[in-house]
Amino acid sequence: MANAFLSFFLLIFSSNIIFENIHACNQRERSSLLFLALTLSSPQLNWTSADCCNWEGITCNQGGWITHLQLPSKGLKLKEGIFPSSSHGNLTHLTHLNLSHNSLYGSLDQTELFLSLNDLEILDLSYNLLFGVLPSSLPSSHIRMVDLSSNRLHGVVPSFFFQQALNLTSFNVSNNTFSGPFPSSICHPSSSSLRHLDFSFNNFTGSISSGLGKCSKLQIFRAGYNYLLGSLPEDMFNSTTLEEISLPLNSLYGAVSDRISNLTNLTTLDLSYNQLSGVLPVHLGKLSKLKHILLDFNYLEGSFPLSLMNCTNLVELRLGSNNLEGNISVLNFSRLGQLGKLDMQKNNFSGILPISLYSCKFLKAIRLSYNNLEVQIHPKILSLEYLSFLSLGWNKGLTNLTGVLKMLMGCKSLVVLSLASSFLGEEMPNGVEVADFNGFQNLRILDLSSCNLNGVIPSWLSKLKKLQVLVLNHNRITGSIPSWLGTFPRLQILMMHFNQLSGEFPKDLCTLPMLVSGETVAQVSRIYPELPIYYNPSADALPLQYNYVFYTRFIYASHNCLSGKIPIEIGQLQLLNQLDLSANNFSSNIPDQMSNLKYMEVLDVSMNHLSGKIPASFTGLNFLSSLNVSYNNLGGPIPSSTQLQSFNASAFEGNLKLCGAPLPNKCQTTEGADAPDMSTQDADTKEHQIPFMFLLHLGSLQDFGESVVPWCL
Ligand SMILES: *[C@@H]1O[C@H](CO)[C@@H](O)[C@H](O)[C@H]1NC(C)=O
Ligand SMILES: *[C@@H]1O[C@H](CO)[C@@H](O)[C@H](O)[C@H]1NC(C)=O
Ligand SMILES: *[C@@H]1O[C@H](CO)[C@@H](O)[C@H](O)[C@H]1NC(C)=O
Ligand SMILES: *[C@@H]1O[C@H](CO)[C@@H](O)[C@H](O)[C@H]1NC(C)=O
Ligand SMILES: *[C@@H]1O[C@H](CO)[C@@H](O)[C@H](O)[C@H]1NC(C)=O
Ligand SMILES: *[C@@H]1O[C@H](CO)[C@@H](O)[C@H](O)[C@H]1NC(C)=O
Ligand SMILES: *[C@@H]1O[C@H](CO)[C@@H](O)[C@H](O)[C@H]1NC(C)=O
Ligand SMILES: *[C@@H]1O[C@H](CO)[C@@H](O)[C@H](O)[C@H]1NC(C)=O
Ligand SMILES: *[C@@H]1O[C@H](CO)[C@@H](O)[C@H](O)[C@H]1NC(C)=O
Ligand SMILES: *[C@@H]1O[C@H](CO)[C@@H](O)[C@H](O)[C@H]1NC(C)=O
Ligand SMILES: *[C@@H]1O[C@H](CO)[C@@H](O)[C@H](O)[C@H]1NC(C)=O
Ligand SMILES: *[C@@H]1O[C@H](CO)[C@@H](O)[C@H](O)[C@H]1NC(C)=O
Repeated sequence: MANAFLSFFLLIFSSNIIFENIHACNQRERSSLLFLALTLSSPQLNWTSADCCNWEGITCNQGGWITHLQLPSKGLKLKEGIFPSSSHGNLTHLTHLNLSHNSLYGSLDQTELFLSLNDLEILDLSYNLLFGVLPSSLPSSHIRMVDLSSNRLHGVVPSFFFQQALNLTSFNVSNNTFSGPFPSSICHPSSSSLRHLDFSFNNFTGSISSGLGKCSKLQIFRAGYNYLLGSLPEDMFNSTTLEEISLPLNSLYGAVSDRISNLTNLTTLDLSYNQLSGVLPVHLGKLSKLKHILLDFNYLEGSFPLSLMNCTNLVELRLGSNNLEGNISVLNFSRLGQLGKLDMQKNNFSGILPISLYSCKFLKAIRLSYNNLEVQIHPKILSLEYLSFLSLGWNKGLTNLTGVLKMLMGCKSLVVLSLASSFLGEEMPNGVEVADFNGFQNLRILDLSSCNLNGVIPSWLSKLKKLQVLVLNHNRITGSIPSWLGTFPRLQILMMHFNQLSGEFPKDLCTLPMLVSGETVAQVSRIYPELPIYYNPSADALPLQYNYVFYTRFIYASHNCLSGKIPIEIGQLQLLNQLDLSANNFSSNIPDQMSNLKYMEVLDVSMNHLSGKIPASFTGLNFLSSLNVSYNNLGGPIPSSTQLQSFNASAFEGNLKLCGAPLPNKCQTTEGADAPDMSTQDADTKEHQIPFMFLLHLGSLQDFGESVVPWCL
């Protein structure tokens, strides 16, 4: 009886203890949290009940101390734009702080939040709007993981932090604007536990002299998209635990050391967009775990390391835009059963495509354009059921467009097909031989440019309803622009410059849904080609890389024999960004409606027979960055706006009756009124002048025309 009573008493007593230990939060910490909540403008946290250990995002330990403060993706905003800067925020037992994916806009410079967080092990403030420099109070003694990525932090990343953070396993500051030299001694000689290091997407400069070789556990090293210089750090090859090296888009030079073949666990090697030279390590293929090799856009030379044909795990091999050479017909791809992407564009490879390539049944993308290959397309290509990107142009030997198209139509997954500069001088198939064309139903980009093809724009194209980009420039295509082109539901880029097209600019082309309606644009999904597409805005700039097909909308029809009026319906193409109708025979006025093209960036109607005035409404084309109306019969004053006057005089020259800035000739006060009359009177003289000027300029424009093969497929 007494025992039972005692038990009962004990039970009450101990449950009381449990209540105190587990449920009651430390009052001082409670007020710290409330202070923290006060610095937030939204949302209202439901932090009201007495026991703060039950609050959302809070975890306490047995002693009632707060150990976890985790409020990721809660839409948190700071009131003052300052990260909590008072020392009220004492949470001395906190081990986990995760406020990632919020909208915390504030400076880390002055914060004292970290001062008391001596026990902190996990710090995740990624995906916020934090700025300022890293505070020297960044907790280091117990820290294991730091993720400050995707903010706007700047300044240097101090080396001393790494010297103190002995238990650091992961450090991610990617996607900020950190600058200055790369931290010099990241790893401890003996005890480094660092596994993941991510410095990518910042402004780091100088060379990578980091003592990485001492990181005896390092698995991931990323520092791409910076301004790093110098050679690959030699001691990196001592970190045999490395699984990923990603240093793309820097200015690293020198050769890739043979010692790389010591890194037997390497799965990803991304050194693309650097200035690396020399030959590729012969034994690269000893790294049997390699899945991703990205070495494109360097100055690598010599031959393809045959050992790579032993990398049975290879998924992606990109060696494009280098100076590699050799006969690829000796390559045996049959062991690369996982290969999904092969990109060797812009090298000096020769020989014929080995048939063994078609045994890589998961291939999704093949780009071998701009080499010296003898291209033949073998029927076995039909066994590549996932093939969605095929680019073989700018090589030799590819003939029989009809046969090739008939065959490739069996590749049901094709999204991108580029066969530019092939089939030289053949006829564009359009007759009975293609009457039964069906296929290409997923094709979104078709490039048959620079093939010198004869014939007309073929009607079978009209069946390719998903086409978004049609590239037919630099052929000898005759006939008129078919009106059904205007019915393509998704067409946004149409390149047909440098052909022999005649007739009028069809009104129906002015109804292209993607150029007319923002709603259509919103509905059409972006193309994410299996390989990036490179766009060269100018000949000497580094090509821009696009992982999806740009929003840009072009019609290029220059250097044809188009005539008649520019239809007033052109004003419907409101979403068009670039329109080039230059070097045709268009006559009559520039329609006033052209000024409806509010998003127009580049407009070229030069070298036609356009007369009348430049519409006054042109002053409303706010996005216009390039205008060319030169070598027409235009007259009257150039409408005044800061925009039009900012262009070079050459944009207007060759129009004898045109006057006013930026042209040197001033307008006579009466000239505006009777300009149309004068143009008819002077028609004769102008007929003689135009061809002369036309010739004068053809040379330079032709250069322009050639470099306007604006992207690499
Ligand atoms: C706030 O949290 C308490 C429990 O802690 C709960 O009873 C109450 O419904 C919550 N209020 C709101 C508005 O969510
Ligand atoms: C927080 O800690 C600092 C020292 O780290 C101390 O000076 C301050 O008084 C503490 N604040 C509160 C509210 O306890
Ligand atoms: C922080 O929270 C997010 C969202 O739950 C999670 O994905 C992330 O892994 C957490 N960070 C750390 C370092 O655990
Ligand atoms: C570092 O980590 C080890 C193992 O996880 C642990 O035993 C040790 O206490 C930690 N050291 C510090 C300073 O946190
Ligand atoms: C670093 O953070 C970024 C997001 O900001 C993420 O994409 C990247 O994978 C992270 N790096 C590592 C090594 O985990
Ligand atoms: C970089 O950060 C911005 C802003 O947080 C984010 O929108 C973007 O996706 C991030 N980029 C990468 C590559 O992680
Ligand atoms: C980082 O580099 C870019 C490109 O050079 C520059 O525009 C930007 O101002 C730099 N940011 C900082 C914080 O240095
Ligand atoms: C790399 O390791 C080798 C021994 O395998 C050693 O001789 C060399 O000093 C190390 N290099 C660096 C830079 O640590
Ligand atoms: C390579 O990876 C394997 C499996 O993850 C691991 O057991 C091995 O220790 C690693 N080798 C090195 C040198 O890190
Ligand atoms: C690393 O590679 C070099 C040359 O390729 C070789 O001499 C050396 O023994 C290798 N070191 C290790 C630790 O495997
Ligand atoms: C490929 O691996 C085999 C053994 O698996 C080896 O005999 C052969 O020499 C390797 N080929 C190359 C080119 O390294
Ligand atoms: C082109 O290919 C087709 C189909 O493969 C074939 O019937 C035709 O004879 C070929 N034409 C030429 C000129 O080789």
